[in-house]
Amino acid sequence: MNYNKALNHNIFKIISRSAKELDLDCYVIGGFVRDLILDRGSHKDIDVVAIGSGIELAKQVSKNLPNNPKVQVFKTYGTAMLRYDDIEVEFVGARKESYQEHSRNPIVENGSLEDDQNRRDFTINALALDLSEGKFGELLDPFNGIADLDNKIIRTPLDPDITYSDDPLRMLRAIRFATQLNFKIEESSLKAITKNRERIKIITKERIVTEIHKILESDKPSKGFLLLEKTGLLEYIMPELTALKGIDEVEGQRHKDNFYHTLEVVDNIAIHTQNLWLRWAALLHDIGKAPTKRFSKKVGWTFHGHEFEGSKMVYRLFKRLKMPLNDKMKFVQKMVLMSSRPIVLAQDIVTDSAVRRLVFDAGDYVDDLMTLCEADITTKNPKKFQKYHNNFKIVRDKIVEVEQRDHIRNFQPPVSGEEIMKTFNLKPSKEIGIIKEAIKEAILEGDIPNEHEAAFNLMLEEGKKLGLKIHEKR
Ligand code: CTP
Repeated sequence: MNYNKALNHNIFKIISRSAKELDLDCYVIGGFVRDLILDRGSHKDIDVVAIGSGIELAKQVSKNLPNNPKVQVFKTYGTAMLRYDDIEVEFVGARKESYQEHSRNPIVENGSLEDDQNRRDFTINALALDLSEGKFGELLDPFNGIADLDNKIIRTPLDPDITYSDDPLRMLRAIRFATQLNFKIEESSLKAITKNRERIKIITKERIVTEIHKILESDKPSKGFLLLEKTGLLEYIMPELTALKGIDEVEGQRHKDNFYHTLEVVDNIAIHTQNLWLRWAALLHDIGKAPTKRFSKKVGWTFHGHEFEGSKMVYRLFKRLKMPLNDKMKFVQKMVLMSSRPIVLAQDIVTDSAVRRLVFDAGDYVDDLMTLCEADITTKNPKKFQKYHNNFKIVRDKIVEVEQRDHIRNFQPPVSGEEIMKTFNLKPSKEIGIIKEAIKEAILEGDIPNEHEAAFNLMLEEGKKLGLKIHEKR
């Protein structure tokens, strides 16, 4: 099979010419070739293997490119990288590698193309296209990677025990590719992942999180999380999730399995949003249920305060996984904390004041919160399913209506603390807080509109109740 037509970007011609000038062979390999054959859209990272020095080849390519882009050299790894247009090309000399038991840093020796293909993670990532002039575009597929692409199989080129223990991150990559591409992990590979799962401990948290993000960004993230659970990897990465597994039964009363429920919610939300952090919120929205689970004869199973507990757990989980403790984390916390609020609304009659309170508390995130709560409807009872969705539709309509009228989102008090102080000739004091709170409450309850005049009159009334005198010279 020849793919010379697919290598139509002029960068490939330039690499080919540069290799000829240095009298070496080189190949494009890995994700670019895989995605080209799968027709997955253009892959912006190109990996090139040189039979010789990758660094020299990179420098030669730069000489032959317009503007001679800067070559970034990573001496310790024997690799070099350059950018051209929006493409990143990485050059590496073909290697024979063996890894040390407790580290990801390999001992590197020069090798042939076959050696290099052998040491790659999966057959579908070991496909190479020749870039040398006479054989431009020719496919080299020593492990039947094309057949695995056709049959949708993730398989390691070597014995999976070797491939995975060489670099344990590959266990996660296998699951990530299976999820992204909707492939099946071949049986002996799956067994090897289970067997080697503990070795994930030597992988940095940052690299683990990158893979988890890619799983979450897939069309059906549950596939990845089910595999993580089945192989035992999830216990090492996010024990908060495995703790949600299982159904308890006391005196004939059962609660739902919150792990499988969570995965349904994540799949549901993936249909409606690409927002990675909202998907994280779906994944974590019930984690507080494990530590707060109680049974009482009167009410059965309860998870009181699980939203608050869950939002605290979000912080600890992000910290442990070395994820940024920034506004993204705060967003996920807020979603988890508020995750039951609209549900209560949807089960009941939806009043304007309840909607105003929801908008007040959620602010700009109210739409995301609604998306999360709609995804949370996993009831198998079609009548309830319809009822909850209809109620959420009413909530959404009311949010728009209330917002147009009352401008509650990013609420600014219509009477300022300053004005209260001037009116009653007050110094900063607790009375100001009491009056402001009364005004806010009256607006949220719908007793007065969110307007200055009505709020001012209420301020006068509240001041009177507090025994305050109006300042004459105001
Ligand atoms: N590779 C490997 N083992 C790893 C990481 C990468 O063998 N732990 C090899 C694979 O051949 C892979 C190539 O290096 O195809 C490039 O890796 P990377 O850029 O991380 O992944 P891609 O396959 O390009 O896929 P994606 O861009 O989706 O991450």
